[in-house]
Amino acid sequence: MAKDERMEKVVNLLERRGFIFASGQIYGSLAGFFDYGNYGTLLKRKIEQNWWNFFVGKRNDVAGIDGAIVSSQAIWNASGHLAEFSDPLIECKKCHTRFRADSLIEDELKISLEGASLDNINKLILENKLICQNCKGVLEIAKPFNLMFKTYVGASEDESATAYLRPETAQMIFTNFKQVQMSSRKKLPFGIAQIGKAFRNEISPRNFVFRCREFSQMEMEFFMHPEKLDDCQINEDELGLEINVLTAKMQENKEKESKTTFAILLNGKSIGTKWHAYWIIKAYEWFLGLGIRKENLRLRQHVKTELSHYSFETWDLEYNYPWGWKELSGIANRGDYDLKAHMISSKKDLTYFDDETKIKVLPMVIEPSFGLERAFLTVIIDAFEEKMEGDEKKTILHLNPNTAPNECAVFPLMKKDGMAQKAIEIFEMLRKNTACEYDEAGSIGKRYARQDEIGTPYCLTIDYDTLKDETITIRDRDSTKQKRIKIGDCQSTLTALLNGAEF
Ligand code: GLY
Repeated sequence: MAKDERMEKVVNLLERRGFIFASGQIYGSLAGFFDYGNYGTLLKRKIEQNWWNFFVGKRNDVAGIDGAIVSSQAIWNASGHLAEFSDPLIECKKCHTRFRADSLIEDELKISLEGASLDNINKLILENKLICQNCKGVLEIAKPFNLMFKTYVGASEDESATAYLRPETAQMIFTNFKQVQMSSRKKLPFGIAQIGKAFRNEISPRNFVFRCREFSQMEMEFFMHPEKLDDCQINEDELGLEINVLTAKMQENKEKESKTTFAILLNGKSIGTKWHAYWIIKAYEWFLGLGIRKENLRLRQHVKTELSHYSFETWDLEYNYPWGWKELSGIANRGDYDLKAHMISSKKDLTYFDDETKIKVLPMVIEPSFGLERAFLTVIIDAFEEKMEGDEKKTILHLNPNTAPNECAVFPLMKKDGMAQKAIEIFEMLRKNTACEYDEAGSIGKRYARQDEIGTPYCLTIDYDTLKDETITIRDRDSTKQKRIKIGDCQSTLTALLNGAEF
């Protein structure tokens, strides 16, 4: 299947089954804003829950916060976002349509522009005589366009009332660093994490929810003693994990990515510090746990010109999307950039008192950052399959139990003769521990097909034999195999299967 066609089918499925769709459609939607429907909400919550358990809940060294979305101009001035957080904007001299300049070049010249400077962008536009995609008019020079949404707090609209919707959740962690460190009594090294909305006024939102204007981030800032950046245990299995890698040097030499291990990356000093490698590994393991296939992931280091204004070293976990390799998650070394900036700007002490040395230090930071919508879309693209069964096209989402909105569905073969009643009894029993749906409408084949599209791993059917011998059939989505089990064993069987037992 062609890549574009695959994406069209994925979007069609997401809208048809009510996972996620353009927001406020009855009035015509604003580009870059989406609403989640029932199954999308369930899937999104699972990803959030899974991330929180993995990065916060199961650990002793990470505290959680939930910061405000609207924040003062002072924060974004200090963080550098007011001056630096921009994309290259280009306008048509004739029809005044505005484009994101690097996307326009990528579309027209079919090249990847990761890390291109504004000068390079303007040079490429001039050299290739690129014109307006709307009216073929001549284009102005590309300029930076700040991506933050501006608002006013209270009744006045003057400068002092100016505020911004946060473009990253991270700043609420930095500005609260001291508060959270003291109240949670964490000692270095430790992390502060949060999941929440962020907003970016993208020039051209695209590829469905891949680049949207309102989205959720799952971020952690991991604070370390500046002299202990390698004071970190990584076990042998993790060091031996294989991954496709493209370092900055390989990109300079125009080499292709190649398979390597984290041990090799660390020994060769490709990754600057051990804690940075540790969090890249954790991010990689987390995506593998969501069921994303290894072969569709690679690790790419940012080249110097594409580093964010706060970053000393960044590695992206990229996915091979239908529109090419693009960032799925970024793991940045922010050093002491943010704490230092806020300390200077607020004149508040944000240092950490080290009990051992009795010296105050300014911690260094590694930031694993994840976009929830990207994780959501990537899980679905990776799990999507369309195949012919006889004359019929069938769609299957091979979601694993960590992401599937329903872990099982319960059906009576028919509503009559007490089968529906029995099925509801079993459903009520299972739903106490398992994400479960009851469905009695339509033919049994249609009900299986519907659950396959939603990604439900197991379906349980109550039939005439159930009424005689208290057994039901359980069907495995991926193999479509069925077997009979006793009603009394159905919760334990399901729990074992959802935890990885062979069908
Ligand atoms: N906090 C990193 C980012 O928003 O890209």
